[in-house]
Amino acid sequence: MKKRILTGITTSGTPHVGNYLGAIQPSLDLANTNDESFFFLADYHAIIKTHDTKKIKSSVSEVALAWLSSGLDVEKSFFYRQSDIHEITELNWILSCITSKGLMNRAHAYKAITAENNGDEDKGVNMGLFSYPVLMAADILLFNSTHVPVGHDQIQHLEMTRDIAARFNHLFGKIFELPEAIVQKQGSIVPGLDGRKMSKSYNNIIPLLSDEKTLRKSISKIITNSLEPGEPKDPTNCSLFKLYESFSSEEEQLTFKNEYADGISWGDAKKKLFLLMNTKLGPIRDRYFEFQKNKNLVNDLLDMGAKKVKPIAAEMMAKIKDLVGISSIK
Ligand code: TRP
Repeated sequence: MKKRILTGITTSGTPHVGNYLGAIQPSLDLANTNDESFFFLADYHAIIKTHDTKKIKSSVSEVALAWLSSGLDVEKSFFYRQSDIHEITELNWILSCITSKGLMNRAHAYKAITAENNGDEDKGVNMGLFSYPVLMAADILLFNSTHVPVGHDQIQHLEMTRDIAARFNHLFGKIFELPEAIVQKQGSIVPGLDGRKMSKSYNNIIPLLSDEKTLRKSISKIITNSLEPGEPKDPTNCSLFKLYESFSSEEEQLTFKNEYADGISWGDAKKKLFLLMNTKLGPIRDRYFEFQKNKNLVNDLLDMGAKKVKPIAAEMMAKIKDLVGISSIK
């Protein structure tokens, strides 16, 4: 069977090094070794989380540039905005009508908000948030994707997608594949400046697309302990070391480990991490500055992507509508 990779990034923040290492880079690797790949900007998911128009606009542009600068090949992959493919929201509605409210009650994201508000089931919950997993199922099922690279926090959404797909198949006839999540190893979670997982909600990110100065400044803010130069340091559970690891060969890691044991100062360790990351992210940054000068090109690429995707979406949607009984009168 053909393997079809699909993943989206919500356009509600600035793309960071964690997105790159955890989502963009592994997805692009998969695109190189699989039959077909679909990468999209989840802009309809974004408006669930923020109603700040300016922020959404700049995030759509930044996330698009992050994909392109990281080396997405628009000839080989399908690259598009969720909102350009109207069939996704049509399918969202159809799936909403066969998804039980009880399933959504169990969604982690919704339960987390309820818990934050001491059990209040409604406070801070819009209908978009409540039915977030249905829109995500529509993203995935419309293209019959077989493999979906996602972070750990999205595993449940993939399980729900399978539940919804199976229910539809059972009610109307088999049309949907049951997609599998491809999840990064637990150990590969990228730490942020404060040691917790790098995330926009923790405000601890290192931006992916920044100039040298900003990168240096971000790295200088990584929290370390108060060990003095000359005192041996422990690389385990050290976010500085973990970040270094994400960008280096085993040999380089071994050298750095020895330097830790020899009591490298935190200042020098940060300098070393900066030099490494600056080299590794340099080509991405160069392409980013090029694309930034040519936003029309980015729009053209997205338009082109939408044009490529539309016929596939339309054909699938026609079949789905026919199955549920919404088609021409015979
Ligand atoms: N919910 C995903 C996230 O926040 C983004 C997303 C939306 C997605 N639709 C998707 C990921 C479909 C994979 C497939 O990370």
